[in-house]
Amino acid sequence: MTRRALDLADCGLGQVSPSPLVGCVIVADGGEIVGEGCYIYENLLHAETIALAQAGERAKGATAYVSLEPHNHQGRTPPCTEALIKVRINRVVCPIEDPNPLVAGKGFEHLRHNGIEVVTGILKEEAEKQNEKYIHWHKTGRAFVHLKMAISLDGRIATRTGDSRWITGDESLKKSHELRREYDAILVGANTVVVDNPSLTDRSEKTRRRKLVRVVLDNSLRISLNSQLVLTAKEFPTIVFTDSEDMGKIKDLCNEGVEVMQIAEGGRNLQGVLRELGRRDLQSVIVEGGTTVAGAFYDAKLIDKVSFFIAPIIIGGLNAPPAIGGQGATLLANAMRLQDVEIKPHGADVEITGYPR
Ligand SMILES: NC(=O)c1ccc[n+]([C@@H]2O[C@H](COP(=O)([O-])OP(=O)(O)OC[C@H]3O[C@@H](n4cnc5c(N)ncnc54)[C@H](OP(=O)(O)O)[C@@H]3O)[C@@H](O)[C@H]2O)c1
Repeated sequence: MTRRALDLADCGLGQVSPSPLVGCVIVADGGEIVGEGCYIYENLLHAETIALAQAGERAKGATAYVSLEPHNHQGRTPPCTEALIKVRINRVVCPIEDPNPLVAGKGFEHLRHNGIEVVTGILKEEAEKQNEKYIHWHKTGRAFVHLKMAISLDGRIATRTGDSRWITGDESLKKSHELRREYDAILVGANTVVVDNPSLTDRSEKTRRRKLVRVVLDNSLRISLNSQLVLTAKEFPTIVFTDSEDMGKIKDLCNEGVEVMQIAEGGRNLQGVLRELGRRDLQSVIVEGGTTVAGAFYDAKLIDKVSFFIAPIIIGGLNAPPAIGGQGATLLANAMRLQDVEIKPHGADVEITGYPR
């Protein structure tokens, strides 16, 4: 049933940030499912509240399977722990604590204090993975970084002349947009904007609560006023990190709706960029290149998750850019090896996703 609670939580994908994904199943004494709920930010109702309302009287003496610790404080909604206590739930089965300092263990403690049995730890890894961005942001204050690249079989992201569209096929492209939907922000380097003129929008065609924030690292303010990003900045939030003092260009960009963030060392200050995103409740960022920016994140050890979409195409050429620039590893022993690896086919392409050890 914990698995079912986790599956229900997934119904909130793209619709909960900066809150966590939560699902709940109420199982009556005889084993019958009497209530199910999924949290969606705009609905205001928590997963437990929805499931308990469905269950009604049958919740008395039942077990509640919840994917994340029920909260014990008055937030946008009343405490879920009180709702569980009030209907006289017998047992709460929940894999993990909520790292939000307002909750962190207090929910479990309050339930136990009121005579409810609390069982934790079942499907712990899955539950942590489901809310990895939320958990990371609460623990570090900085945005969770997912590096996503589309590469050829020989590890290139463009030809030597800069031709990069498209290396991977339609299925990979569709999956990439679904991935974007799971992120609060998307980040690229200045050259990618100059060369590719991307729009960096979420075209998954699925509901998302907050607009995807587009982030460009651009110290020389090379972004063109006629670029897709600038032309659509009034509709889709766009932040340029820089240390440029070109006030004329900054004013022009601001007039078009671009937010120019001047920070010490500009986009080179990756920690500063991620902290600033975190400060704005942007819990996660998908980094989509190019070579130089990916290399900077690699060298700074600021990558939390990696997805490479590998296409059966061989580009060749010493001057064709590789996926990761920067210094790279000196020895294989220092190279970034992934763990918890998932391999999925997308048409003729293969996606490899994993976490740096
Ligand atoms: N296949 C894929 O998945 C994929 C994805 C994206 C891009 N691409 C391809 O990649 C190529 C562009 O890659 P690129 O390496 O030339 O450029 P890039 O990584 O997009 O941009 C590099 C530039 O960003 C600026 N920058 C600001 N802060 C930075 C930081 N902390 N680290 C690194 N750079 C920072 C620097 O310019 P300033 O000093 O002027 O600020 C730097 O020269 C294009 O051909 C594009 O088509 C492929």
